[in-house]
Amino acid sequence: MNKPVLGVLCSGRGTNLQSIIAAAESGQIPAAIGLVITDKPEAKALERAAQAGIPHICVDRKRCASRQEFEEKLAASLKEHGVTLVILAGFMRILSPYFVREFSGRIMNIHPSLLPSFGGAHAHRDVLAYGVKVSGCTIHFVDEGMDSGPIILQAAVPVADDDTEDTLAARVLEQEHVLYPKAIELYLKGRLVTEGRHVRIKS
Ligand code: GAR
Repeated sequence: MNKPVLGVLCSGRGTNLQSIIAAAESGQIPAAIGLVITDKPEAKALERAAQAGIPHICVDRKRCASRQEFEEKLAASLKEHGVTLVILAGFMRILSPYFVREFSGRIMNIHPSLLPSFGGAHAHRDVLAYGVKVSGCTIHFVDEGMDSGPIILQAAVPVADDDTEDTLAARVLEQEHVLYPKAIELYLKGRLVTEGRHVRIKS
């Protein structure tokens, strides 16, 4: 039987992409990565995909006349490659209801804080400014809001008094690289049951 196909969307260096590639190669994730898309031509994620022999394209947001055109291109490319689950891995754009409906219930995102606290584009800066003692990361399904969809998995890390954005980001990233493959594995094995805001993990 054919494996399910993942499409991974990235904006930058792609270390989460790399952990997902490793998990697909080891067999932890029973899926193929069918396509990697970036919204920026300089994103290092493209090189990582190339090195792993994964089809990869850039849909340059700056070359699209509108968000609708950009998202139509994303959706068309993902469908052409037979993608059934869309993975946002450091993809720094908010997707409109149009795109979310195209892949309804089949888009996951990773965010580097314990949602619903510290959503948005500067989670670590906001965590340090607020003075919380614990942070972490969240994997969630994407709905039509920002960082607001049903939560699949979370991992916590301590925040140290002398943390900088970089030291905190590095501690959280270690957890991200474990948690994202795990969430994808659970999804692909049919172990996630979503009821409203709640995602139950079947044993
Ligand atoms: C990760 O820390 C991810 O959680 C974050 O961007 C980083 C991407 O790193 N995502 C967001 O902030 C989404 N709002 P990577 O490119 O090395 O995977």
